[in-house]
Amino acid sequence: MTGSTVWLTGLPSAGKTTIGQALAARLRAEGVAVEVLDGDDVRARLGGGLGFSKDDRNENVRRIGWLAHLLARNGVTVLVPVIAPYRSARAEVRRRHEESSVPFVEVFVDAPLTVCAARDVKGLYARQARGELTGLTGVDDPYETPIAPEVSVDTSALSIAQCVAQVRDLLSGRGLI
Ligand SMILES: Nc1ncnc2c1ncn2[C@@H]1O[C@H](COP(=O)(O)OP(=O)(O)O)[C@@H](O)[C@H]1O
Ligand SMILES: [Mg+2]
Repeated sequence: MTGSTVWLTGLPSAGKTTIGQALAARLRAEGVAVEVLDGDDVRARLGGGLGFSKDDRNENVRRIGWLAHLLARNGVTVLVPVIAPYRSARAEVRRRHEESSVPFVEVFVDAPLTVCAARDVKGLYARQARGELTGLTGVDDPYETPIAPEVSVDTSALSIAQCVAQVRDLLSGRGLI
């Protein structure tokens, strides 16, 4: 079975987790070996010593990328709904994959900041607005939009099912599932 790493990057509340979970369920039903490395879960396990500075965010992405690569090279389709705000860190993970010919797919889970802030699934935007937290990606911390993602899904215009289908079609078109 062909493995790959499918990185879902985007702002908080853009829909990364939702699409990752729905796509995982669909692929599992089709008999694909899938793992999901979701940002919050993985940080709790592998994020020892890391905060939210630029260096720490990038180190978090490096660790998750390392684990994804390990699984992907063993035939697993690894879905990674993790913000990964910096282009350089995403590019480094891509490079690691390409060096060993393990497919890496960047999915830009795209929605305008206003839509994400209105969804505010975890209440982070509201807390930032009240001054209870700082360093929120996309608001008072950088989010570097992907320049050449393999696919962009506009979660403000399409349904969850349509977004999942778009990513699935890309993977299928590339012979990755
Ligand atoms: N097309 C879509 N794709 C993904 N999520 C969507 C879409 N349309 C609406 N949503 C909603 O947006 C929210 C996204 O939350 P979540 O997936 O937790 O975001 P993230 O993991 O990027 O922080 C969910 O409440 C989801 O139901
Ligand atoms: Mg999430």
